[in-house]
Amino acid sequence: MPPRYEYSRSAIQERIDELTGLQAPFGLTVRYAMKANPHSAIIAMMHEGGVHFDASSSYEASELLAAGIPGAHISLSSQQSPHIFPELLSKGVQFVATSLHQLDQFLQEKYRPSEVALRINPDMGQGQIKRLSTGGRSASFGIWHEYIPECLKRCSDAGVRVTRLHIHVGSGADPSIWGEVMDRALSVVRLLPDVTTLDIGGGYKVARVEGEREADMPAIMAAFFEKLTAFASETGRELHLEIEPGTYFIAHAGTLVAEVDDVVDTGAEGYTFLRLNTGMNDFLRSTLYGARHRIEVMNDATETAEYVVVGHNCESGDIFTPAHGNPEEIETVTLKLAQIGHEVRIYDTGAYCASMRARGYNSFPDATEVMVD
Ligand SMILES: Cc1ncc(COP(=O)(O)O)c(C=O)c1O
Repeated sequence: MPPRYEYSRSAIQERIDELTGLQAPFGLTVRYAMKANPHSAIIAMMHEGGVHFDASSSYEASELLAAGIPGAHISLSSQQSPHIFPELLSKGVQFVATSLHQLDQFLQEKYRPSEVALRINPDMGQGQIKRLSTGGRSASFGIWHEYIPECLKRCSDAGVRVTRLHIHVGSGADPSIWGEVMDRALSVVRLLPDVTTLDIGGGYKVARVEGEREADMPAIMAAFFEKLTAFASETGRELHLEIEPGTYFIAHAGTLVAEVDDVVDTGAEGYTFLRLNTGMNDFLRSTLYGARHRIEVMNDATETAEYVVVGHNCESGDIFTPAHGNPEEIETVTLKLAQIGHEVRIYDTGAYCASMRARGYNSFPDATEVMVD
C-alpha cells in the first residue's frame, strides 16, 4: 500500500472542544495556526467549532478566504510581505506587521484600516533546539522590541493606532514558563498604550515519546488568567487574549501509515534498518530537527528486535529514529520483528508533517491524506 496520513476527526474535535472551552478574564479568541496542517477538512472542522485562524503567509490567508472563512477571523502574521495586500485588507483580514518595512507598506495602503497589530520580538525565546526558537536576538521573527518607539511614531504620523500586540516565542509545556512569557508580553503592552488585544502565539507542546511533557492547557490558562487580572487591577486595562496553537490542536490526531519496503543490515557489529516506503518527502521533522515519534509495526509477532527506521530517499539524513538530544546521530528503537510488506504506523504526525515535507524529493509521489473517525 502506498503511504497515507490518517487524521482522526474525533481527536481533532476533542481538542477543539477543549481549547474553545478555556476562559480568559476579558475574553479569549482561539486561533488555529494553519501552517501546522492546512487540510481542507481540518480547516472546515475548526471553522465549524468556532476557531479563528493564524495565517503565516498571504497565500495561506487567501486559501482561507477561498474556503469561505471570513476575513475578520484571519490574522496574518507573515515573514514575507503580502502579495495581495489591498485584497486582504478589503476582506477584513487582520494584518500583523512583523517588520518596520511591513509596517510602512501597511501605512502606505490607500484603503487600510486605522488600527494595526505589531509582532514584537521581546528578547525571550523558548524552543527545544535553537532552530525552533522564534524569539531573542538570534531570531528574525517580529520587530525587535527596541524599535517600538519608532513604530509608534510612524503610526501616529499616519493617524494609525496599534491596538493589537502579537508575541510568539516558541515551544513550551511548563505553565511557569508561560507565566514568564505573559509577564514579558505585558511589559511590552505597557509600551503600547492603545493595545486592547494580546495575541500570545502558539507553541503549546505535546508529548510524542516517553519523557516528553504535554502542555497542561488549563494550568497555562490559569497562569494567564492571574497575570491578566493583576494587570487590569493595576492599570485598568482589560486585555482580550488570543492564543494560536498549531501543534496542540492537531499533532496527536495524525498517523502516518506506511509499509516496510526492505530490511537491510550492516553486519553483526552494525545496525538493522527498516526501510519504509515513505521518508523525508512525506515527513521531515526528524531529519530537520531530530523530532522523535512513536513507531509501531502492525503484526502479531511476539518477538522484538532493535531497528533503525529510515526513509526511502537517497539521503543519509532521511531517518525516523534520530538519537535523543543529538539529531546528528541515529538510535535504535525496539519494535516487533518486522518483515517486508508489514504495516508501520508513525504516530502524532498531524502537525508539521504533511504540511512541511520535502515534497517531490526523488520524485516520490506525496503520501495521501484521509480523514478517519
Ligand atoms: C506566529 C506563530 N503562531 C503560532 C504558531 C504555532 O505554533 P505551534 O504549532 O507550536 O503551536 C507558530 C509556529 O511557529 C508561529 O510562528
